[in-house]
Parts: sequence; structure tokens; C-alpha cells
Amino acid sequence: MSKKLLYSLLTILMLVTVALVACSSSDSSETASCAPDCTYEEMTLCYPQLGAESDWRTANTASIKETADQLGAQLIFSDAQQKQENQISALRACIQQDVDVIALPPVVEDGWDAVLTEAKNANIPVIIVDRSVSADSSLYAAHIGSDMVLEGKRAAAEFNKQFPDGASILELSGTTGSGAAVGRANGFREDLNSNIEIIDSQTGNFTRAEALPVMQAFLQKYTPGEDFQGIFIHNDDMGIGAIEALKAAGVEPGDLFIVSVDGTRGGFQAMVDGWFQADVECNPLLGPQVYEMALKLMNGESVDRETLTNETVYYPDNAAELLPSRQY
Ligand code: AHR
Repeated sequence: MSKKLLYSLLTILMLVTVALVACSSSDSSETASCAPDCTYEEMTLCYPQLGAESDWRTANTASIKETADQLGAQLIFSDAQQKQENQISALRACIQQDVDVIALPPVVEDGWDAVLTEAKNANIPVIIVDRSVSADSSLYAAHIGSDMVLEGKRAAAEFNKQFPDGASILELSGTTGSGAAVGRANGFREDLNSNIEIIDSQTGNFTRAEALPVMQAFLQKYTPGEDFQGIFIHNDDMGIGAIEALKAAGVEPGDLFIVSVDGTRGGFQAMVDGWFQADVECNPLLGPQVYEMALKLMNGESVDRETLTNETVYYPDNAAELLPSRQY
């Protein structure tokens, strides 16, 4: 055999070996070295929380932290203060630290492709938690959270029942571009009867502080009862901010038909006090499901791509009875 032929054969052999190694590492990608017997004690989970904007979020953070403590898992937690760039930096820091699993509650839907690709290239599985992302689903392992579209539809059903002859209403929406706000707004519009008109919609960014001036501005423009008969509010914290503005303007509980989302203690209190006529549940207690799925991913087990939380709608008639047992 000539030297030239031998070199060519060796080169081909080398290329085939490199290709095989590359293939096998992407095949076994995202499985931890302890697989298939990894335990929670061996897990380091990264949770770049999006912020602390609401009671819902506080309960979600507590659920993630408490579950880590109970299971003996390591948690790398950060608070992005509702800024996507902070979440992306936190994600990159976790990739650098080579965590086992990333669980990401994304502040907005768009703009995750690059960092999710980086996590994928580093063989770190990502679970999208709570809100959704618009990125290609091949870039993450699964999503665990609420059906935000269904929540919007449930809110619409309350308005349809209350106003069979039509009405004008306002909408106080959540963070612009967030899966929660987009889903709720879309579901609401899909199911709202055509004789109910949303005369104005503004964001209160899911916070009490930002909802208050938005409601005040609404009240400068529109007369309650005359120009509008109801308000759809995307979360309880904004509802509580709005109530402050309504009270200051002399509006009484029950003058307007108000439907909120979350089912926090604050929302229940607003039902007891007569301000909210319904509260659509959005459950933040996702810790146990997140860690269970994270362990499966470490062990190379298959997981459901979509896990939606089973939720309901709460009403004032039994709000006082349920309030003491609310966990958030
Ligand atoms: O994504 C869930 C939403 O985010 C909750 O409705 C809200 O309270 C939170 O801020």
C-alpha cells in the first residue's frame, strides 16, 4: 500500500471517529454522569427567577426554595427584577457553572434562542417553567405551567354570564410580551361575546405599584358605571393596586364587575370585601413537579413535553371559608 493511500485511509478513519464521538455525545446529551441512578442530593438546579413582582411570584420562589431544601438538592437562585437581560446573564452564569438542569421562568416570550442554544450545546437540559417561550421547542426539554389561554377564556366566560345584553369593559394587562399576558389576552378575546367591548387596555406590569396610576388614568378618562361596567385584571396584585385607585375615586365594591387572575390570599380578600366577582386560579406551587422532572432528565428518562396545571375559578360565595387555608 502506498504511503499516500495509507495517509488518506488514516485521515478518513480520523474523520469517522470524530463524527462518531460527536454523534454519541449529542445522543447522550443532557444525561448526567450519575445516570441512571442520580439522586436529588446529586442535583444542582439553576432557577433564574424573573422577579418578585407579585404575591404569586413570592409563592413560586418559596415553592422552589422549600422543595430544594426538602429534597436535599442544590439550588442556584437569582432574581432578575423583571429584566430579560438579567435572566440571560444568570442563565449564562449557570451554564458556566455546568449545573445539571436549568428551570427557566421566562419574563417574556421572545429572545431566548441564543441562550437556549448555548445551554443545549453545553448539554444542560432546560425546563421552561410558568410562562412560555416562542423559541423552537427543540431548544428545551419541556414546559411546566398554567394554560394562560384557558385562564383568559375562563375570565371571558364570567363576563359573558354577567352581561348577556353586552357591556363596555377595561383591561389591566400583565407584562407586555409575557406568555401570561399574551395568553390571557388572546384567550379572553377569543371567547368574549361580541356585544362586550374592551374600550381600553393598558399594562400594569403585574405589579400593584404600576397598576395604581394606570387605574387612576383610566378613571380620568372614563366614568365608572357609565363608560364601563367591568374590568378584566390579569393578576391579583394589579387588582389590589386598582382597588386603591377605585376607592380614592369613590367607587364602591360591587359598582363594577371585576374579574382577576391568580387566587392569592389578596385576591380572596378582595372577593370577601366585594371587589372581585371571580378569581381565575393560576397556581405558583410548581417546585415539586420541577425537581421531579429535573431528576428524570438527569437520569435520561423521558418526560412529557407539556405539563399543564389543573386549575379552577374561585367565587365570593365561599371565599371567606377558603381564605384561611390558602397557601399563598
Ligand atoms: O406568570 C404568572 C403571572 O406572573 C401571575 O399571574 C402573576 O401574578 C405573576 O406576576
